[in-house]
Amino acid sequence: TIEQRVDSVLALMTLDEKVGQLNQYTGDAATGPAFNDPNKVEQLRTGRIGSMLNVKGAQRTRELQAEALKSRLKIPLLFGLDVVHGYQTTFPIPLGEAASWDLEAMRQSAHVAATEAAAAGQHWTFAPMVDIARDPRWGRVMEGAGEDPYLGSEIAKARVLGFQGEKLGATDAVMACAKHFAAYGAAQAGRDYNTVDISRRALWETYLPPFKAALDAGAATFMNSFNELDGIPATGNAYLQRDILKGRWNFPGIVVSDWGSIGEMVAHGYAKDGADAALKAITAGSDIDMESRAYSSHLDQLVQSGQVKQTLVDDAVRRVLRKKFELGLFDNPYKFSDVKREKAALNNPQHRQIARDVARKSIVLLKNEGNVLPLAKSAKNIALIGPLGKSKLDMAGFWSVNYDSTTYVSVYEGLQNKLGKQATIRYAKGCGIKGESQAGFAEAVQAAKAADVVVMAVGEAYNMSGEAKSRADINLPGQQEELMEAVLATGKPVVVLMMAGRPLTFAYTAEHAPAILYTWWLGTEAGNAIADVLVGDYNPAGKLPMTFPRSVGQVPLYYAAKSTGRPSQNDKDTNYRSAYIDQVNSPQYAFGHGLSYTQFEYSNLKLSKNEVGDGETFTASFTLTNKGKVAGEEVAQLYLHDLFASATRPVKELKGFQKVMLKPGESRTITFTIDKDKLSFYNNDLQWITEPGEFNLMIGSASDAIRLEQKFTLVK
Ligand code: IFM
Repeated sequence: TIEQRVDSVLALMTLDEKVGQLNQYTGDAATGPAFNDPNKVEQLRTGRIGSMLNVKGAQRTRELQAEALKSRLKIPLLFGLDVVHGYQTTFPIPLGEAASWDLEAMRQSAHVAATEAAAAGQHWTFAPMVDIARDPRWGRVMEGAGEDPYLGSEIAKARVLGFQGEKLGATDAVMACAKHFAAYGAAQAGRDYNTVDISRRALWETYLPPFKAALDAGAATFMNSFNELDGIPATGNAYLQRDILKGRWNFPGIVVSDWGSIGEMVAHGYAKDGADAALKAITAGSDIDMESRAYSSHLDQLVQSGQVKQTLVDDAVRRVLRKKFELGLFDNPYKFSDVKREKAALNNPQHRQIARDVARKSIVLLKNEGNVLPLAKSAKNIALIGPLGKSKLDMAGFWSVNYDSTTYVSVYEGLQNKLGKQATIRYAKGCGIKGESQAGFAEAVQAAKAADVVVMAVGEAYNMSGEAKSRADINLPGQQEELMEAVLATGKPVVVLMMAGRPLTFAYTAEHAPAILYTWWLGTEAGNAIADVLVGDYNPAGKLPMTFPRSVGQVPLYYAAKSTGRPSQNDKDTNYRSAYIDQVNSPQYAFGHGLSYTQFEYSNLKLSKNEVGDGETFTASFTLTNKGKVAGEEVAQLYLHDLFASATRPVKELKGFQKVMLKPGESRTITFTIDKDKLSFYNNDLQWITEPGEFNLMIGSASDAIRLEQKFTLVK
């Protein structure tokens, strides 16, 4: 068995070799502060490195693997990489994909990414990021699934299943890594790497569920986190790693530190020095040290002096060896580094097709006044205006690992591909993404005046959201809103494409532009996907996975808020209410919001029970009808509110959703099943319980567009 094989290798290992298995170095690139060790190859040959990150390609991974195989015990290396939204074929950023609410599409995109990465030598992706994030200032919101633990958990599962496929060891699968354990998304003020100070209830209720879902889906590895939690850095946090993850949840896989996070416990003021950091990390359950050299420098001494028990090191090494066996690397260390397979996988046209499909699904129609969209067939002159109109690179978004941006489809190209034969597309940049210059405004206005319709491509550059890309001001950057104003003043119909890695604030545009599509950063097929939506070849169905504030002062703003003792009933009800005197409470766009080119009617809600016994399951059914003239998909959302409990409950919690395609005029009965789990919450002793009492069940097309509701009672 694998366990016997692991034991037999372990029995042969010296302490130094064991420590080597827990030491991870970067290879050819830095995704954190670099140390630049000149002796890496020598250390590979002596078995002092167990895994590497940032080494790409079948050829290069073969070369380094060959060095590792010169070591005494010939233990193969693991190669890991941040394959976050595609390897070569780039999919929409994860937050964008989350807007599709399409679990199968997300599973598939992760699987394509795994297929390409695994052919190019990777065994391991540092994804999915499953951090719940409620602060759009945080640059890493782009990497997750947004603000909601239920949606986040479903997406976490889908992505883990996609990356890992049927079974570890298959050559179209890589190990997934649920990160960052835990609560990294709650960094104060949205500043990356900042302090996290949240209640245990918030930890369990909001931040842990997607990790548990990833684990249940079989995530082979977890990454811990840069932040502290309640005074203890996550990397040295035994409550998180030993008690919860490896204890209660019985996680059998590897916990890898984040880049340098073991060493950073010194800067946190939690470890005296590198040795103390190594002691605290291994004791708390961090198995692999990514790039801080604390284990490689101190772990042998700590064991020899008796401060760290040998069994602790053995347990960590076992976890690493087990995965190497499960991947089949002891039998064939080059299994994943296959130049021929790499070539075929990276040039597979089907992957681009899938990328286009996911990209279309990720687009959210925020506004469509006067049905400006889809573009009228009569539009013969189209002005494409804005700094992102011809950009390819910015379609990539942050964490694109192996892309060739020349193969990306810009919006301009997408429009040409779609309409080039029947319409003239005139491009004017107008202004840069950042910067103060308005020198291009006149040309843009002229282009707008000459057009039947204007498409504005505005937003963030690819490197304005992502790791270490927090922003204190989340407005549409530079002069872009001013450009919008100038173009709107022409009176021409304007369709806005808002491209970004986070929810932006764009109050002027939201109020004045008739049509807005939020397109995130859509990846390789961005332009084609956008053109499909613009002309109505694809009817948009995306729904926001994160609340969009009106201004940064409202942050954090999320739909699953508490009532407070002085709730304001509406945006005018402010006096002695929990409200602002200079801003309304409501968001610009709510969680779950997203329009379609058709309209859906919700009717006929029926609960199978109005009184539910504890442990009983019941259903809520309703009729969904497509009342419009075109086929379309709707994401019907189920929310619950526990009206009174021994701890206050959010006024709405997502507990289910279904994405349904309906032809014009078609009706369908949709049924949600509600079980005990959906009615449960953590009490003050953090037990997962139900309490008798009244609930409100709501079904809607967005968290602020509840179409049907009914109360029911839980009896005990
Ligand atoms: O995987 C990432 C992590 O999410 C942030 N720091 C760097 C790691 C490796 O690139």
